[in-house]
This record gives sequence, C-alpha cells and structure tokens, in this order.
Amino acid sequence: MIDQKTKVIAIASGKGGVGKSMISANISFLLADKGYKVGIFDGDIGLSNLDIIFNVKSKNNFLNVLKGECTLEDIKITIDNNLTLIPSESGDEILQYEPKVIQEALLKKSSFLDKLDYLIIDTSSGIGNFTKIFLQCADEIIIVTTSNPLAITDAYTLIKITSTINKNLNLIVNMTENEKEGKVIYENIRKVAKNNIETPFSLNYLGHIETSKNISKSIKFRQLFTKTTPSSLSSFHLSEIVDNLILQLENQAPPKKTKNSFKLFIKRVIDNF
Ligand SMILES: Nc1ncnc2c1ncn2[C@@H]1O[C@H](COP(=O)(O)OP(=O)(O)O)[C@@H](O)[C@H]1O
Ligand SMILES: [Mg+2]
Repeated sequence: MIDQKTKVIAIASGKGGVGKSMISANISFLLADKGYKVGIFDGDIGLSNLDIIFNVKSKNNFLNVLKGECTLEDIKITIDNNLTLIPSESGDEILQYEPKVIQEALLKKSSFLDKLDYLIIDTSSGIGNFTKIFLQCADEIIIVTTSNPLAITDAYTLIKITSTINKNLNLIVNMTENEKEGKVIYENIRKVAKNNIETPFSLNYLGHIETSKNISKSIKFRQLFTKTTPSSLSSFHLSEIVDNLILQLENQAPPKKTKNSFKLFIKRVIDNF
C-alpha cells in the first residue's frame, strides 16, 4: 500500500454540534475494520475532543509538534488495528501559531502517515482559516447537517463556499427521524444549490443516521457504537455510509501512483496559505 495515494477526507459542517466528531470517529473505525490503514487527525484546532471520544489520554499532541518538542510519529495514538489518532490541543495557545510554524512541523518525517489508505480530518464548524485549508486540500469533503433548519441553511452556505474550492462534495444527514427525512433534506439542498450556485459541482448523498439513544449513550460512556453494537440500526446506517463513500472514491479517477503522499498533502496545505 506504500505507493498508493492516501485519500484525504475532511468532515465539515456549517453549524456546530451536528455530529461531525462522532461520525469521523465511527467512519474511521469502520474503514479500519475493513482492513484499510486509517489515520484520523483532530483538525478542530483549539476545540479538539477526539481523545475524549476514543477514550484515550495523550501526553503530547499537535501543539507539542508545533512547539518543536516532538514529531507527529511521537504523538500518534494507536486506537485499534489499522487505526491511528493524531491528537490536537484544546485552548487558544495553538490558535496563535503562524502557518510557517505549521509548515515546519508537518514537513518533518512522518513515515506512518505516508502509508495510510485514508486520512480522515475532523474539522471545526464553519469555515475558519484552518478548516478552509483542510477543505481545500481534501480529496473528498463530507458535509454533515441535521434536520434543524438552521443547520440546513448553514450546510447550504458551506456547500456554496466549498463548491468553488473542491468539487467532490458529499452529504450526510444526521439525527433524522427516518430514512425519508434524510433523502428529502438532501433533495431540497441539492435543488437550491443547483439553482443558485454557478460553479459546476457534484453533491453526492452518502446517507442518514437516525437520532438514537444508542449513539448518545456511546458518547457518554466514551465508546464507539459501531464497535460495541455492530448490529444496531445506527451501526447499519454508518456502514451504509462507509460503503457509499468507498464506492464514491472508486468512481473517481484512479489515483496517481506516488510515494510520500502525506508529504504531498502537506505541501498542498502549505501552498494554499
Ligand atoms: N444520531 C445521533 N443520535 C443521538 N445523538 C447524537 C447523534 N449524533 C450526534 N449526537 C450527539 O450530538 C452531540 C454532538 O456531536 P459531535 O459529534 O460532538 O458534533 P460536532 O463534532 O459536529 O460538534 C454529541 O453529544 C452526540 O452524542
Ligand atoms: Mg466536533
């Protein structure tokens, strides 16, 4: 797998609290469970919480890498077979870093990242500077909304902004009442977007996840529901989403064979500053 390009998938939303981190963590687990090598980067810079979701403690994180105290390799946390977390920092100290410092930190040797099949980036809500860069560099963007009208409006705005920087957009409707609600919301967003956005882009529907006590409980007990209750309805929905995502990626042009693909990703990040 070393010379196959790492697919970078960014998970974004207009509104906060729509389930991005929960979805990022569970998609990563399911991809790893299928045998892919997966890295998940906590890109919610300043408000990171994936260490809590995965129930792991990190002594050092991305802030320490930025400070030059350790490398990406040193901060990685093995979550499961094939699944590695790159933890980040909560608080405002990390937000003060200049792009140049990020460049130096990320360009240091990171052999394990180069070998990944997928790098999932959990981003912060909205379109702040860090998020914008992660979205620009991703191969696929997954936008998460709920059925809340405010979340739908914000998702549409995010689609409008991202349609100019990345054409591969995907939608997940989370916290629905049923399957139909998810499809209706997707169709409505697609119609409004088609009528109002001039740049050609595609919005692929990955699926829905119903509001479930199973999910809220799993967050409370710091477990992954796709791992602890694999035959639940919520796990079934997430599996469908992952299958659709893999299908979507397979339909893209075949990846260029290249080594050091993570470095190339970082270079794209840096070039976009
Ligand atoms: N489908 C769902 N059913 C029930 N609760 C959910 C569902 N999706 C997310 N949640 C809850 O919503 C909250 C916010 O989720 P989170 O992943 O942190 O959102 P974000 O990363 O977008 O801010 C969490 O407490 C989570 O338990
Ligand atoms: Mg989050």
